[in-house]
Amino acid sequence: MKRSVIDTVDLSKEEVQGLLDTAMDIIADPAKYAHACAGKKLATLFFEPSTRTRMSFEAAMYELGGNVISMTDAGTSSATKGETVADTVKVVSNYVDIIAQRHPKAGAALVSAVNAQIPVINAGDGGHCHPTQTFADLLTIYREYGKMDGLTIGFCGDLLYGRTVHSLMSAMARYEDTKFVLISPDELKVPRHLIDDVVTPNSIPCEETASLEDALPKLDVLYMTRIQKERFDDIEQYERLKSSYVLDAEKMKLAKPDCIVMHPLPRVDEIAVEVDEDPRARYFEQTYNGKIMRMALILKLLGDQDPAHTYPGGPFSLWNEAMEDNAYRCTNPKCICAAERSIRHKYYVAKNGSKRCVYCEQ
Ligand code: NCD
Repeated sequence: MKRSVIDTVDLSKEEVQGLLDTAMDIIADPAKYAHACAGKKLATLFFEPSTRTRMSFEAAMYELGGNVISMTDAGTSSATKGETVADTVKVVSNYVDIIAQRHPKAGAALVSAVNAQIPVINAGDGGHCHPTQTFADLLTIYREYGKMDGLTIGFCGDLLYGRTVHSLMSAMARYEDTKFVLISPDELKVPRHLIDDVVTPNSIPCEETASLEDALPKLDVLYMTRIQKERFDDIEQYERLKSSYVLDAEKMKLAKPDCIVMHPLPRVDEIAVEVDEDPRARYFEQTYNGKIMRMALILKLLGDQDPAHTYPGGPFSLWNEAMEDNAYRCTNPKCICAAERSIRHKYYVAKNGSKRCVYCEQ
């Protein structure tokens, strides 16, 4: 087992600052890094569609002088023959030095990290986490404000299934004087475990509202998200909720003059195209920052394999706390445990005393 990144909190706050510092140095002097990964290979294992995450990982590795092999469509892989994620990564570990993986089931990245002999980077596991998007988001905030402390962030849209929201909330909770405003319809509020494990223990002021207009004047960062159609069980519910929020030039008049607008992309209709011309729009810069932070992360994980690490996610990983007993079964249908019968169900005890699946945290 090598050091992997399942969520942002698998790196310490200091390590995240290290990534931001490396990223700033890459931006200042990209030539210095042009051969840093010469002779190394990255595999992008994408069991779920992606444009920018996969391409930016690949661009990142090429800009470090490394090479890439890719699985872009699970439909053409042995997954269609019933191969498990665990077997796939054991095989791929023989071909490359590092894996970036996206999968539609929550917890699939942890399964890979535990089974691979090389570092695994989670490029999105179902509606669970998406740490490298968060690293892109953090660099965007850092380049804007020159600091991470004292910011009020509004998350708007699909906070239930939006994995980028979950990872960014966990990451921002570690900075001083962070405030959250959670803007969503009732049906799409953030999962309970984020409130219990992230917001409450860190005493983060957190307001929940359904009104974007009410929230806007308070924000330093507005983080818009797409309603995640592919994660709904009930398509009628999606149809009802899909246009809950549309940010347009009129609404932007309510925002502070220096409030930046972020979005992990792709957008559907939640940000009107006219907002692109607003000097506060940052969503296309985020995509550039994503490539740079992925370069910084690949460099770190390839250079930083402490043999003393026997855990998949680093000293902060839930894996360290994982327990097993015969009675415990994860019942989340969106978890990798439901999709692959060979996985041994494990839990950790949450701060409120309840048992949660170590893979999906539900
Ligand atoms: C996000 C994702 O895949 O979760 N996209 C991305 O990686 N930039 C957001 C989304 O799909 O809505």
